[in-house]
Amino acid sequence: MRGYDKIGVMQSKFPKNFYWGVATSSHQIEGDNTNNDWWEAEQSRKVSHKSDKACDSYNRFDEDLALLKELGVGAYRFSLEWSRIETREGEFSKEAIEHYKNQIVQLRENNIEPFVTLHHFTNPIWFSDKGGWESRKSPKYFERYVDFVSKELGDNVKYWITINEPSVYSLMSYVEGFWPPNKRSWFLYWKVSTNFIRAHRRAYRVIKKNKEDVLVGIAKNKIFFDAYENRFFSKIVAVLFDYIYNGWFFERTERYHDFVGVNYYNHNRIKAGFNNPKNWLNQNENKEISDFGWEIYPKGLYHVVMHSSAMKKPVFIFENGIADADDDQRPMFIKEHLRWLNKAIEDGADVRGYFHWSLLDNFEWAEGYQMKFGLAEVDRKTFERSPRPSFYLYRDIIKENGLDVK
Ligand code: BGC
Repeated sequence: MRGYDKIGVMQSKFPKNFYWGVATSSHQIEGDNTNNDWWEAEQSRKVSHKSDKACDSYNRFDEDLALLKELGVGAYRFSLEWSRIETREGEFSKEAIEHYKNQIVQLRENNIEPFVTLHHFTNPIWFSDKGGWESRKSPKYFERYVDFVSKELGDNVKYWITINEPSVYSLMSYVEGFWPPNKRSWFLYWKVSTNFIRAHRRAYRVIKKNKEDVLVGIAKNKIFFDAYENRFFSKIVAVLFDYIYNGWFFERTERYHDFVGVNYYNHNRIKAGFNNPKNWLNQNENKEISDFGWEIYPKGLYHVVMHSSAMKKPVFIFENGIADADDDQRPMFIKEHLRWLNKAIEDGADVRGYFHWSLLDNFEWAEGYQMKFGLAEVDRKTFERSPRPSFYLYRDIIKENGLDVK
């Protein structure tokens, strides 16, 4: 691989009790989530792909569990589908809650710690009809749902993740307009972002009220912003973007995190100047890219972890992965990211876990099934899961609790 700073050959051992895991989300794997806003947008063609049966994981949890066991993970991050649980406003489905309860109990029986996400991009239709995250009442609606599930599932869940990537959701849904409700307004972006802040605080408090000794946080997408060459103006702009995109949410909610949850995928070099006013972002050169066109930059994980450490709380990497259908980049991707993560630990970061995105090829939102992030491939007709070579590489890393010199 070319184009990024390789850390070189070294042996990396991870701390004892380090959580090795994989991450998924409900709409991306469960299938037939007919009661949420994504499904609605898929049917009315506001987004170009349909999730249909996804990986059929709602009916095939036993197959997913078998894979998790084979991989040897100590943790599994997945999300609850709000639209299955609160089918209409204030009406909760016993069947859905039993389903998730059963899933959590089975994970525990197999010594796999469940890390439960409460919101991963999708909303019940009743909620979006009431204005979704634009509504001032949205944090209250979210709190009612969180109160219900944390009472129902609380006995078996220690780690709660309230919201997945609030900034990605707000940008994609309210600025880019690619995701439902497909709007383009900086004003709404602001409104939604502040409602997420209020919703997270409320969720944090209610989960803790229902059970004290649990740990609550979010999964925040962090981009490594870096300056193009050693230019003063670019450096200032990079610091500003870092604050707005990576730092602001945490600053506004600082007391409401028991850990710092980070998803890392992207590096963004800023070249700020008056001669290129519309072209400041993504001046990455000589880059190795994934099928998605995203630069592969493992050293960025080191930087975002070191920045995150400033909050003086345990850090979890809740997502890191690559769209790579041929599986020819993923092995090196995993190894190099883990080496840089290990270096961050050596340099003092208190990192407690790493979750690879993802266990399976799944519904990649606006890109549908074209982007393949899975350690295991999924046959779109039979739903048969077939582990890729990198699945076995990751299994060996987990078994060794680190990487050997190779
Ligand atoms: C999201 C996932 C998504 C992944 C890859 C993350 O931003 O949480 O849902 O599949 O990135 O794009």
